[in-house]
Amino acid sequence: MAPPIIAAEALTKDYHLGPHTVHALRGVSVTIERGEFVAVMGPSGSGKSTFMNLLGGLDTPSAGRYVLDGEDVAGLGSDRLARIRNAKIGFVFQQFNLLPRTSALENVELPLLYAGLSARERRARARERLASVGLADREDHHPSQLSGGQQQRVAIARALVNDPAVILADEPTGNLDTRTSVELLALLQRLNRSGLTIVLVTHEPDIAAYAGRVLTFRDGRLRADERAPVPRDAETALASLPEEALA
Ligand SMILES: Nc1ncnc2c1ncn2[C@@H]1O[C@H](COP(=O)(O)OP(=O)(O)OP(=O)(O)O)[C@@H](O)[C@H]1O
Ligand SMILES: [Mg+2]
Repeated sequence: MAPPIIAAEALTKDYHLGPHTVHALRGVSVTIERGEFVAVMGPSGSGKSTFMNLLGGLDTPSAGRYVLDGEDVAGLGSDRLARIRNAKIGFVFQQFNLLPRTSALENVELPLLYAGLSARERRARARERLASVGLADREDHHPSQLSGGQQQRVAIARALVNDPAVILADEPTGNLDTRTSVELLALLQRLNRSGLTIVLVTHEPDIAAYAGRVLTFRDGRLRADERAPVPRDAETALASLPEEALA
């Protein structure tokens, strides 16, 4: 059997601020299998983003073990960690994090600069990813010329461009209205059904309902791990949402 894509054991993160120590994560153990769609919930400050940053190799744990796709990453140096991160993880953030004076196509191409492809290959791959999120006709638009939902889809195309195994999305619908959020979830569910593993942080139970599993954090600990046998389907939900649903 393939190893779990994510295996965290007693993951701990302390932040030291002068004389104070913040215990952001107090020993979190969780296993996520390939192809799962997991929502991460919990109050502000409960450690959700800290957990995501560790899963994505943006930060290193103070203690504990983290095995990503069979590889123990807790003890890796920063170069090797960056390489694994680039190859296996795609990030999506609440603020989209697109480069402002850069076209949608160039934004999507960015992660490929380190992949050793020719300029022509990079362009072709980025075009294809942008088309796959429904934005073929927006290649030359800068972020300010796109709606919030479109900007987030550019960010997803960028996250997908290296064919990652996992998408880590921290509050990706935080700046989107209801309908645009559900449209984004329809895209994520489609990607998930084609095999991509997704871990998504949200404050909203209405968003978490689209995931097959919900992890709930409190005070740096995992307090609940619940499975939804039949998660809500975003395409179905869209059909019954009014065109101009207000947030
Ligand atoms: N770089 C840092 N330095 C010091 N403390 C930090 C740092 N990052 C996070 N913390 C602290 O760690 C705890 C967990 O923060 P985290 O960002 O993981 O929470 P969160 O669940 O993502 O909250 P939110 O829902 O508001 O985004 C908080 O008490 C926070 O203040
Ligand atoms: Mg957070």
